[in-house]
Amino acid sequence: MSTNFDQIEKDALEALAAAADSAALEKWRMACLGRSAPLMAALGTLGTLPKEERKAFGQRGNQVKQALERAFEEASDRIGHAELASALAAGAIDVTAPGRRRGRGRLHPATQTLRRIYAIFAEMGFQIYRSREVETDELNFGLLNMPPHHPARDMWDTFYTTAPNVILRTHTSPGQIHVMRERCPQPIRVILPGMCYRYEQITARSEIQFYQVEGLAVGRHITMADLKGTLTAFAHALFGPGVRTRFRSDHFPFTEPSAEMDVECFVCDGRGCPVCKQSGWLEILGCGMVHPEVLQNGGYDPREFSGFAFGMGPQRITMLMHKIEDIRYFFANDLRFLEQF
Ligand code: DAH
Repeated sequence: MSTNFDQIEKDALEALAAAADSAALEKWRMACLGRSAPLMAALGTLGTLPKEERKAFGQRGNQVKQALERAFEEASDRIGHAELASALAAGAIDVTAPGRRRGRGRLHPATQTLRRIYAIFAEMGFQIYRSREVETDELNFGLLNMPPHHPARDMWDTFYTTAPNVILRTHTSPGQIHVMRERCPQPIRVILPGMCYRYEQITARSEIQFYQVEGLAVGRHITMADLKGTLTAFAHALFGPGVRTRFRSDHFPFTEPSAEMDVECFVCDGRGCPVCKQSGWLEILGCGMVHPEVLQNGGYDPREFSGFAFGMGPQRITMLMHKIEDIRYFFANDLRFLEQF
C-alpha cells in the first residue's frame, strides 16, 4: 500500500483555508491531526513497512505533520485575532447614542399619607411609637376592657395562631398598653402606626391586612376638649383649613365616652355625592377618652390621670382623598396604579 502524503497535505491545507471561525478550526484539527486522521492512520502503519522504506516514509510523514501543525497555528492566530476584533467592535459603546431615561421610583400612596400624618402629629408634639404585630389575646382584647367572651370582640374577626392566645393584632390599640406600661408615670403623647390583620372576606372595601394609625395622649389634665382640638387641627392640616368636622357619639369598649369624627365631604363640599353616600360627611376616625380600666391596665391611676385616644385607617383616608375605589390596589403592585401618585 502506498501512502500519498502529498495528497493528504494538499487536502488538509485546502480544508484549512476554508475554515472561517474557531469552531470550524477545531473540527479541522480533529479531522486532520486527530487520532483517526488519515495522516495519523498512515503514520501508524510505519511498523508494518519493510525496513528500508521506513526512514523515508517516516520523514515525509513527519514533514507533513509539522507542516499541518504550523498551518494550524497560523490559522488559529489569524482567526482568533479576527474574532476578537469583531467582538470588540460589536461591544463598543456608541458615545453619541441618546441616553435611556431611568424609571424614577416614588413613595407608595399609603406611605405618602402615613408620612403626612406623622408630620402633622409631630408638629403637635406626638412621637412615633412602634408596637408589635403579633400580640396576645390579652393585649389585643382583655386589657382593652374586652374580657374573654365579651360581645364587642365580634367587631374584630381575628387571625389566631397555633400557639395558645397568640394572635395577629386586629388593631393598633394594644400598643396603648405597651407604651403606657413603658412610660408610666410620665405623660404620653404618641402615635402608633402599623399593620393590622383581620380574618375578613377581601372586597373592594376591606383587606385582610391594612394600616392603622393609633394616637394616645395621657396626662393629668387632659379633657375631651383636648381631643376635639387636636383632631380638628389634624383634619385642617390634612384636608385644608376650611374643612368642617363633627363628632358623633359612638361606642368602643376602651374609651368612655367614645366618638367618631367626620369631615365634610371634600369631593362635593358637603352637598352630597356618591363618595359620601349623599350624607355630605366622611367618617375618618374613631376616638374617645381612655377608659379608666384601660388607664389602670397601663399602670396609671385614673383618679389622677386621664387621656384621649384615636384610631384611623390611612388607606381609607387615601382612598377618599384620591377617589380610589378599591382598597386591593394598595397591595397589587400594579405600576399603572402606583405611577399616578
Ligand atoms: N381600635 C379601633 C378599631 O380598630 C379604632 C379606635 C377607636 C381606636 C377608638 C381608638 C379609639 O384608640 O379611641 O376599629
